[in-house]
Amino acid sequence: MTPNIHRAMSADLRPVRAALATLSLCLLCLCHSAPTSLRDQLMQHEESQRTGGNLLLTGTEMQVSSLLRSLMEQELEACQRSGRFPPAMHFFRARELIEQSSVFKLIQRMPKGAALHIHDYAILRVDWLIRNASYISHCYICFTTKNSVRFHFFAKDPQTRLPNCSDWLLLETLRKKISNVNDFDNSLIRNLTLFTEDPEATYPSQDAIWRRFEDLFGVASGLISYAPVFKAYFYQALLEFYQDNVMYIELRVVLPPVYELDGTTHDKDWSMAAYRDVAKQFVSAHPDFLGAQFIFTAHRKQDVSEIKEAVNVALHLKEKFPDIMAGFDLVGQEDGGHPLWYFKEPLSIPALKGVNLKYFFHAGETDWKGMDVDENVLDALVLNTSRIGHGYALVHHPAARELARKTKVPLEICPISNQVMQLVSDLRNHPASTLMAEGHPMVISSDDPAIFGAKGLSYDFYEAFMGIGGKQSDLRTLKQLATNSIRYSALSVELKAKATALWQKQWEHFINETLALEELGR
Ligand SMILES: *[C@@H]1O[C@H](CO)[C@@H](O)[C@H](O)[C@H]1NC(C)=O
Ligand SMILES: *[C@@H]1O[C@H](CO)[C@@H](O)[C@H](O)[C@H]1NC(C)=O
Ligand SMILES: *[C@@H]1O[C@H](CO)[C@@H](O)[C@H](O)[C@H]1NC(C)=O
Ligand SMILES: *[C@@H]1O[C@H](CO)[C@@H](O)[C@H](O)[C@H]1NC(C)=O
Ligand SMILES: *[C@@H]1O[C@H](CO)[C@@H](O)[C@H](O)[C@H]1NC(C)=O
Ligand SMILES: [Zn+2]
Repeated sequence: MTPNIHRAMSADLRPVRAALATLSLCLLCLCHSAPTSLRDQLMQHEESQRTGGNLLLTGTEMQVSSLLRSLMEQELEACQRSGRFPPAMHFFRARELIEQSSVFKLIQRMPKGAALHIHDYAILRVDWLIRNASYISHCYICFTTKNSVRFHFFAKDPQTRLPNCSDWLLLETLRKKISNVNDFDNSLIRNLTLFTEDPEATYPSQDAIWRRFEDLFGVASGLISYAPVFKAYFYQALLEFYQDNVMYIELRVVLPPVYELDGTTHDKDWSMAAYRDVAKQFVSAHPDFLGAQFIFTAHRKQDVSEIKEAVNVALHLKEKFPDIMAGFDLVGQEDGGHPLWYFKEPLSIPALKGVNLKYFFHAGETDWKGMDVDENVLDALVLNTSRIGHGYALVHHPAARELARKTKVPLEICPISNQVMQLVSDLRNHPASTLMAEGHPMVISSDDPAIFGAKGLSYDFYEAFMGIGGKQSDLRTLKQLATNSIRYSALSVELKAKATALWQKQWEHFINETLALEELGR
């Protein structure tokens, strides 16, 4: 830990101690005078601490808030009667229930701001990849020895095979031979997601689900890395987020080689330029969307020299694409990779060079308290991260939690991801519940919605609101989470102002629309 952080922390603890002393003084005197108001005082104190607890709502917002609360209460009662409460169930079983929820429908219409934690090849519902992309001519498939598939576009029948995969078959020809193409396509769709009727039996451990998770990127990348699909996929993904009332995204990207039909491949600059151009094209067709920025990522299983190389690539991209290149991160299973501290040297290169490369580290996505990777949340802060991806383990580290709060480094909470990847089964037990109760800085995101069978941000917002926030949540909770996403984005000061103004307008429209719909429904 660096000396300036020590200073920051001891300086930070003083007001906390003072506040505690004042609070206990109040409690003492209250105990003597009026026990009932002690109760009120405590409740008020908790209320003002909660995420959104300090927001003042306008008259119309208050109307929407009480509507939302009554929808929520009805739903909670119904769930208690049926014994089926979506946040307490595995998302694969809860999804249909969520889709019937009135709270969910309201959240879908709500302008949610920005999606700040999502990954390049897992952002668009996979149906599109099969029902659209795999129908583009020259698409080939092979079947692996492990009940999976691979795709690739070739100009003509390839003479080579992938290891452990059948001969390449032209999908167009294959589909002509198959009697039920719809069933076949559905089986291909299943090859692209983790979805299964019995997730507990299919994935007996975190390692097992991570192996399959990483294999899924292998399945998707044969399709997405084909240049025409690469651009169309990103455009469709922006559309899907836009339709879910998200106005801006920050995408973690690996930038693997994108290929053409003749087998030539493109470099990372080409992919960044393609992302930039597609985003521009999308924004010109949808002026109330703000666009996208990119966080370059490397795999945490790589060694120090490879990460050094990756940091240099990030610096190069930042110089070449200053408007859209947000920063750098490491991806992959934390428990299976190197801890952040292992990479402290390559990660110090930008600071040594006097260049500002922002970090957005995944950290603390683990149940293993006290292991090396459990210290990632501390090290992410020491390495000056701008946000913490997941930070699931942060509650185990009071000093890191205090520092993150003081330096306003938010967590990117991805509830469905944490549940599907088996960190927690009942989302009411998610540690963010404690953090929300104390107003810890956070945003809600969806990580890899396509792989989990979700879409946009609404499903994760629903889980966060109903399961993690609990019954005391109201419109202020949602409003705070949405505005946090702009505040903690990598946007420049000017663009944040623009985003806030745009969001405010969308929000007013949402409030008006909700009241109008309510009027109609009566
Ligand atoms: C695939 O998507 C593109 C772009 O939206 C669209 O023009 C095309 O008609 C779609 N093709 C199929 C087969 O759905
Ligand atoms: C192919 O499968 C064999 C047996 O499972 C395995 O040992 C080998 O590593 C695989 N090869 C590749 C390139 O995946
Ligand atoms: C992948 O698709 C193939 C071909 O239809 C199918 O046999 C296999 O069961 C699918 N695998 C998974 C994991 O769904
Ligand atoms: C983090 O910030 C401190 C203070 O500005 C600086 O001394 C240090 O080099 C930075 N560390 C990294 C890894 O950027
Ligand atoms: C919302 O309704 C109010 C009052 O009817 C109106 O003044 C305002 O312009 C509306 N705002 C939007 C964005 O529709
Ligand atoms: Zn992630």
